[in-house]
Amino acid sequence: MSKTFFIETWGCQMNDLDSQRLSGSLKLRGYRRVEDEHTADLLLLNTCSIREKSEQKVFSRLGELRAAKKEGSKIGICGCVAQRDGEAILARAPWVDFVMGPGNVGYLDEILDGGRRLALDFPEDRRYDYLAIDRPSATRAQVTIIEGCNKNCTFCIVPTTRGREVSRPITGIVAEIRSAVAEGRVEIELLGQTVNAYRCPQTRADFASLLTVVASLEGVKRLRFITSHPAEVTDDMIAAIRDHSNISRYLHLPVQSGSSRVLRRMKRLYTREQYLAVVARIRAAVPEVHFSTDIIVGFPGETDQDFEETISLIEEVRYGSLFAFKYSPRPGTSALRLGSPIDDAVASERINRLFEMHEERKRETLRAYEGRILPVLYEGPSRHDSEVLSGRTDDNWTVNFTGDLRTPIGTMLPVRIQQAQHHTLRGEAVA
Ligand code: 5AD
Repeated sequence: MSKTFFIETWGCQMNDLDSQRLSGSLKLRGYRRVEDEHTADLLLLNTCSIREKSEQKVFSRLGELRAAKKEGSKIGICGCVAQRDGEAILARAPWVDFVMGPGNVGYLDEILDGGRRLALDFPEDRRYDYLAIDRPSATRAQVTIIEGCNKNCTFCIVPTTRGREVSRPITGIVAEIRSAVAEGRVEIELLGQTVNAYRCPQTRADFASLLTVVASLEGVKRLRFITSHPAEVTDDMIAAIRDHSNISRYLHLPVQSGSSRVLRRMKRLYTREQYLAVVARIRAAVPEVHFSTDIIVGFPGETDQDFEETISLIEEVRYGSLFAFKYSPRPGTSALRLGSPIDDAVASERINRLFEMHEERKRETLRAYEGRILPVLYEGPSRHDSEVLSGRTDDNWTVNFTGDLRTPIGTMLPVRIQQAQHHTLRGEAVA
């Protein structure tokens, strides 16, 4: 009987992809994936440390896994909490078999075979074996282009958990995308902490050139990328988006705050005015872009006035999607030295106001799609209703629609939008 594994993933797209890589290499070893932690021979928890809450969850979840695991099974902790607290985890939970950081995803075989318990380095060769990625979607492939982060945002733990920036050679990226497209994955999503800091280590090609190369590859029906840093948006990058209709009209551009004073304390490398100027440049070239953003509420020293500036910036940009978080102090980050913590009740009030306002805007945004006919990339039957087709628009809204269920997945088809739902659109395929 083949061995089995269970894997649970928290956090960002990078973590998702790391889990796809871990899962792929286990399948190559003959392991089978199971969804029940009680039956698995190997239990992996791929953790996130971006905020304190997810980090606290690790130990409670570990306790549950210990109780669930059958005799002889192994437990491994991966991801950013493992990277930061690996030794502490082994000290506090000695029954954990190994901890490994994001730099060691390509080394799972050695860790399992060699009985290595602590793998927290960042090897020069990350062993990115794209043929062994266990991709959950039949139509989409996520592809790493750059790992790590060289920014020093004062709130952020990522530079310590994912290391310095390392760009992948463009030849490897193109080979991976060709192979994904050959398998029917016609939607490509380029991943990195700061995708627009990309620099091919061999050709010095920048992100704009990479976009142009990938968008021109045969069979790439839609090209997306996440995350872009506002300070590194170039005119060439904007031109690449404008000139290639298969590049998604969706741009995640985290602003974090609308107050230049707070942005300076965050070391975000732009002011409110500079951010708005970037948005204006993009809108001038690609008016239909759907912007999304991340906001931190209650950053140390954030005044009512600062928060009002965040509210007014959101009004001004009119984001389609918005992710907001209460500031969470992270060990080793320089924001800890700023003092002036914000009362949790104040932060809660602010974030609730922000969500309320955004929900209203989002309803208006979605309603504006009613009656339009848009190209939708068909991804498969809806998860909730197998009689309904589901896919996404160029600007990344999910559309559930009626149509021919024999349509091959990965087909781009015109859909008339009939009705806006809470977070999605409903429609019908048109001939
Ligand atoms: N506290 C709260 N939110 C944070 N983020 C990053 N670090 C913190 C922190 N210490 C948010 C930022 C980032 C997103 C991925 O998580 O908004 O863009």
